[in-house]
Amino acid sequence: MNKHIAVLAGDGIGPEITEGAVLVLKKVAAAFGHTFSFEPLLMGGCAIDACGEPLPAHTVERCLASDAVLLGAVGGPKWDTLPGDRRPEKGLLGIRKAMGLYSNIRPARLWKALADASPLKSALVENGVEIIVVRELTGGIYFGKRGSYSDETMGETAWDTEQYSVREIERITRIACELARKRSGRVISVDKANVLETSRLWRRTVHAYAEAHFPDVTVTDMLVDNAAMQIVKNPAQFDVLLTSNMFGDILSDEAAQVTGSIGMLASSSLGDTTCGLYEPIHGSAPDIAGTDAANPIATILAAAMMLRDSFGMTKECAAVERAVEAVLAEGWRTADIMSAGMKQIGCREMARRIAEHVS
Ligand code: IPM
Ligand code: MG
Repeated sequence: MNKHIAVLAGDGIGPEITEGAVLVLKKVAAAFGHTFSFEPLLMGGCAIDACGEPLPAHTVERCLASDAVLLGAVGGPKWDTLPGDRRPEKGLLGIRKAMGLYSNIRPARLWKALADASPLKSALVENGVEIIVVRELTGGIYFGKRGSYSDETMGETAWDTEQYSVREIERITRIACELARKRSGRVISVDKANVLETSRLWRRTVHAYAEAHFPDVTVTDMLVDNAAMQIVKNPAQFDVLLTSNMFGDILSDEAAQVTGSIGMLASSSLGDTTCGLYEPIHGSAPDIAGTDAANPIATILAAAMMLRDSFGMTKECAAVERAVEAVLAEGWRTADIMSAGMKQIGCREMARRIAEHVS
């Protein structure tokens, strides 16, 4: 197959980790007889520097014309003082919205070789943990109306709005239920229905939709504060975790850490077409940028999700996951997942070793 992949390397460690993932994709193409072409595009802080805006129209146009988008990470201290609508993160939110990517899947799983990396007691994780966060990605407080004003008595005051419609909730419920059907048949839906109106609509809509279309899937609700606690108390109870945009952002970082390192967690974002966006869930780690210390595995696993979810290449996806497993089993570790007795290597070497194992 011929596939054209837009590459948004972004800022900080973004260029290093996407370079690693591209190397692995090139090996997949060679091993399985595909042709992948890669088109580097600007988004985030690097785009602000080069064109004065975080998401140039050309980038959106080219992403929409590609078969899939690979993304590194955006942001850094250099751009932290810019107004909200001109920050690098605005580029990321903008491309998610422009591509209509409402469904964000973030699988946090405990890799056998990394069982020691979980900060939880081994009794809590020894039977395996796999939490699939299904995060709504183009709605909620991230995209609601916002503003700030000066209040005479209280001083400067700012506001953001959480807003959800039945349609938005239904389409992400469908994604979670479809996934659950292939797995445990269980969805835990997260909300704050004891306080928020949007959460009450969320809860009602999730149940009504699931009962009508997925009678075989069991949906239970969990308040977000309790969910945050349960993820560290008993992570094995979770399978598919359905969340709004902001709750999913928070809980996916927590789930990632429970399973070892945020440097291992990939994510796929899709809308109604197969042209998706694939990125690690971690940030641009400006403190280690350019030092070859980053872990490229989350981005490599994101590339594996691209193979499966956008290109239908299930064998190729499995080959990449096997290669990651093999390199970890050989004891190779980047700094973030390093433990006693293992062998520490840099970002480039990790990607090279994984690519070498793809067959
Ligand atoms: C993520 C990130 C982004 C988000 C930021 C960088 C805008 O934290 O993908 O989880 O909040 O969605
Ligand atoms: Mg996040």
